[in-house]
Amino acid sequence: MQQAVQQPIDSKRYAKSVQASKRVRFDIDQDVIRGRTFDFAKKFLPDGLSKVQTLTFLSEREKQLISQIQGRSYANIFGLVERFIAAKVLEVSREHWFGDQVALEALVRFTDEEIKHQEMFRRIEQMIALGMPEGYTFLPEPNAVAAAVLSKSTWAVLALTCHIEIFVLAHYRESIDPDQNLSDLWKDVFLHHMREESQHAILDELEWQREDAKLTPEARDQAVNDLIDLVGAVDGILQVQSAADADYFLRICGRTFGRDEAEKIRATFLAAYRWQYIVSGVQGRFSEVLGRLITPAQFERIGAALAPIMG
Ligand SMILES: [Fe+2]
Ligand SMILES: [Fe+2]
Repeated sequence: MQQAVQQPIDSKRYAKSVQASKRVRFDIDQDVIRGRTFDFAKKFLPDGLSKVQTLTFLSEREKQLISQIQGRSYANIFGLVERFIAAKVLEVSREHWFGDQVALEALVRFTDEEIKHQEMFRRIEQMIALGMPEGYTFLPEPNAVAAAVLSKSTWAVLALTCHIEIFVLAHYRESIDPDQNLSDLWKDVFLHHMREESQHAILDELEWQREDAKLTPEARDQAVNDLIDLVGAVDGILQVQSAADADYFLRICGRTFGRDEAEKIRATFLAAYRWQYIVSGVQGRFSEVLGRLITPAQFERIGAALAPIMG
């Protein structure tokens, strides 16, 4: 068995994360839902994420409906990814069991928060279902996805997790917060979620770098392949769910579209989902951290693999 190299731990950053986690901790009922329901006279997902404004032939009511369908899947996709994220964080916390107890506390809180978020998103799905016509389906199954993701190397899973938790913050700050036309409850769900995710994004980076320091160049090169596979698997999920959501819209919107318009609606759902879950997260902080860990040739390999998805 390979001897794990003991890396010095950045205790201060873990301690700061614990403090911040205590400060922003929310209760699903008392702080987020507060007895409210979703306002279906408003949008859920902002235009900056739904890309609905490119569908110029739709009425405002139809654009609102698309924003609500995408907003419903947005909540479900976080519930989905949080299943594997919680399991992986619980697994890497093992390496702190008999080490820095503050680091251990930070990861235990992280896991606890993700389990709570999953409960919140299950509640949200039930509440949104009450206000929308029957026939919506969320196809990916959290445990099946988690099993596939967790079969890959820890380096790649932490990279994917870091990517997700960074884009959660960017989506809220750049698109959700500035939009004044969203359901207040939907907006509050993602405000509170983002506040707890801020700590996760920092911890992902710390754990990913700690894992990276243990790898040989060969193992890291294989981990880069794993990351490419994982992004491909995410894209597979987005293709299936965007098609299901576009078809649901076409069934419930109350009119029939010609073939070209229906195709444009399907293509826009896929482009929006790729933007939300892959493209918007690849820029900025994530690329910076990734670039520090891998070689330029590996960086290029990832770029070439992602090119068809990045459009
Ligand atoms: Fe979360
Ligand atoms: Fe998280």
